[in-house]
Amino acid sequence: MKKLRIGVVGLGMGQAHINGYKEHPDAEVVAIADVDKTRLEKAAKEQGIAKYYTDALEMFKKEKLDVVSIAVPNKFHKPLTIAALESGAHVLCEKPMAMNAAEAEEMLAVAKRTKKRLGINFSFRFTPQSFAMKQLVESGELGDIYFGRTVWHRRRGMPGFGGWFGTKALSGGGPLIDLGVHRLDLALWLMDYPEPEWVMGSAYNHIASAIAKKQNKTYDVEDLACGMIKFKNGATLEIEASWAANIKEREQMSTRLLGTKGGIFQYNLEEGYQFHVECYQEKAGCQYDMHLHPPVPACKSSYYTFVDCIVKKIPYVVSPEQGVTVMKLLDAIYKSAATGKPVKIG
Ligand SMILES: NC(=O)c1ccc[n+]([C@@H]2O[C@H](COP(=O)([O-])OP(=O)(O)OC[C@H]3O[C@@H](n4cnc5c(N)ncnc54)[C@H](O)[C@@H]3O)[C@@H](O)[C@H]2O)c1
Repeated sequence: MKKLRIGVVGLGMGQAHINGYKEHPDAEVVAIADVDKTRLEKAAKEQGIAKYYTDALEMFKKEKLDVVSIAVPNKFHKPLTIAALESGAHVLCEKPMAMNAAEAEEMLAVAKRTKKRLGINFSFRFTPQSFAMKQLVESGELGDIYFGRTVWHRRRGMPGFGGWFGTKALSGGGPLIDLGVHRLDLALWLMDYPEPEWVMGSAYNHIASAIAKKQNKTYDVEDLACGMIKFKNGATLEIEASWAANIKEREQMSTRLLGTKGGIFQYNLEEGYQFHVECYQEKAGCQYDMHLHPPVPACKSSYYTFVDCIVKKIPYVVSPEQGVTVMKLLDAIYKSAATGKPVKIG
């Protein structure tokens, strides 16, 4: 089979995309693009990629790509995704899908019109522990899920402090849209994306803005946000995300789901990016705790899986519609935080 021709735009996180695609036997990263010429040339040399462009649109035009990865600041997700789709490529776009739901809906409409795939890189689904949780939920062991809490807090961890992440016009928001988006998608996926109805949210900026002021840096997004989502099926999900919070851990991630027959809890180990899963149930009148042990479910990266689904002509695990739903929820949390009122969805 002819290998899929892949192009990657943005060479920060984009480097992980390149490495992920390299593992698939039917994929070849033939070209890369970045507006930063130094970063571009360094990546081309290190990754052994012959074609490289400072203008992504030129790359789309010249390279006849089958697949494009978009890994640039959030503001450019929409225009570059749309241009890549229009050029005839399937697109794997980084999270968050866009700056807001309106942009995400435009991207979805173009994907539908061009009949191309649009995947969103919710990479935290693609861990063996997340797959194990999904299997457990689908097996019915938890019963009906009625409550969840999904969290990503950092003690002090503003990415690229003073740069685009903390500049609302480029990022669309702070830790909620950056970190929260991952934990939100994971919980929603496990809950089978129930239809949301009401959202309450709060956002704060006490710590990071004070540090920014001292260091004379730009920072106009929240440093902590939280939200409560009420679904039409009666379930509730709480979401919390921060880049700066006075907590013990350097980095703390968890997702807890409570069902009528059992509960699960996924949490990060040693303040890092490895996870563990536990399940709690009542059996014969007693309370039991279970731990996930190897062997864990087989799990390939989101990049490998995106290519694999195209080759095998099967649906990708993350749909663009789910990306839009996440953006609607994020918009609603920010709106509720700004107005002090609950926001009705749909
Ligand atoms: N899935 C994940 O776990 C994960 C992790 C990190 C970042 N991300 C996402 O990846 C995206 C990029 O984040 P990052 O950490 O790599 O940021 P970054 O700032 O390190 O890298 C972004 C790169 O994009 C380039 N760029 C900017 N505008 C461009 C344009 N118009 N055309 C071509 N290149 C352009 C920049 O020069 C830079 O090299 C963001 O959307 C972020 O949310 C996802």
